[in-house]
Amino acid sequence: MNFLVTGGAGFIGSAVCRHLCANPAYRVTNLDKLTYAGNLASLRPIENAHNYRFEQADIRDERAVLEILRRDDIDIVMNLAAESHVDRSIDGPGAFIETNIVGTYRILNAALEYWRGLSEERKSGFRFHHVSTDEVFGDLPFDGGMFVEETPYAPSSPYSASKAASDHLVRAWHETYGLPVVLSNCSNNYGPYHFPEKLIPLVILNALDEKPLPVYGAGANVRDWLFVEDHARALELVATKGRPGESYNVGGNSERTNLGVVETICDLLDLRRPRRGGASYRDLIAFVTDRPGHDRRYAIDASKIARDLGWAPREDFDSGLARTVDWYLDNKWWWGPIREQRYAGERLGQGSIENSPTQNSPVEHKTFESSPAGNRAESRKVAT
Ligand code: NAD
Ligand code: TYD
Repeated sequence: MNFLVTGGAGFIGSAVCRHLCANPAYRVTNLDKLTYAGNLASLRPIENAHNYRFEQADIRDERAVLEILRRDDIDIVMNLAAESHVDRSIDGPGAFIETNIVGTYRILNAALEYWRGLSEERKSGFRFHHVSTDEVFGDLPFDGGMFVEETPYAPSSPYSASKAASDHLVRAWHETYGLPVVLSNCSNNYGPYHFPEKLIPLVILNALDEKPLPVYGAGANVRDWLFVEDHARALELVATKGRPGESYNVGGNSERTNLGVVETICDLLDLRRPRRGGASYRDLIAFVTDRPGHDRRYAIDASKIARDLGWAPREDFDSGLARTVDWYLDNKWWWGPIREQRYAGERLGQGSIENSPTQNSPVEHKTFESSPAGNRAESRKVAT
């Protein structure tokens, strides 16, 4: 079976490539533009594997994608290429519109043209799997509710709005043109090879550098965390066994407040790499201005994928976080150059729209008026 994984040099895409390549019956083509978030070092464990190849390309380049689909005789497309960081989407939404919306539109077109040229047998086996996020469902109250597949979309950030738009396009290409698509919406991932702009790796590396550990607002916001290798297994199942036209929610059943996550990382580091002088890393915690439009809580009901596809996470949050901390302690070769050359941990996403270096096309320069504490309007509709 031949897979095209887009965004395979990113955090989750590289985990998917490493996971798929362990199966000798699979061949994997990794298509990635190599933005600031793409890193071929994350593919080092498989770079010489007989069933792996890398292609630098942009998903917006319809011709290039079509050529690769034909050349590599692709059976399954797994579309992970995206701009993925909420804070960067606040500073520079243009790149998110370009890659997440225009890019998905273009790769859908390429896939449709390719699919139409296949034999009837290969046509029915073909899948376009679009990998999405639980953030499309928007904000949950602290005291209840979970996202199910039917929860109405109510995105809050430019990132989640662009992902919601891409999900709608994917559905439309199924309903209108018959392209066999599957979708999955997953909660926050964590684990090895995670770019250190996201909460967990940022906190681990800032702590090791004796820098402040930034917690937005009061740290009360809740996320559901899933170990990235569990997500990779779920994605393989959805891509190979999911029913065309359906979506699957994926989650770790591990809700934690942000402050709880940061404190647990501090406690793990206190044991593994005690600070000179004996103080706790908890002393580095710094409460900073909240993110504009900060969703309070995400929670996933993953019973459909458990029931229909037999998936369950293998890692719980405590064991997965300990593995993650150990990985960062042992793999400075991977994150050292990123912290030195790409992103040193400075605050992103405070609400002033600028042309960021990741921008694909010029965008307007505007000042974004955020609410003082960045908190959401209390009148929002609640998903259940
Ligand atoms: P990431 O930012 O680590 O990686 C994205 C990859 O896409 C990078 O390698 C980048 O070079 C590549 N890319 C960006 N624009 C491209 C373009 N125009 N053409 C080709 N390649 C391009 O992201 P991630 O955390 O690995 O997320 C992967 C996917 O999973 C995204 O679609 C994201 O929305 C989704 N997702 C992420 C999470 C999470 O917790 N990280 C949770 C649920 C869903
Ligand atoms: P993040 O890792 O950016 O993922 P997402 O925004 O997709 O959920 O952030 C996870 C949570 O941590 C989110 O509620 C914002 C918060 N956060 C902080 O408190 N401090 C930080 O420095 C960052 C990057 C995030």
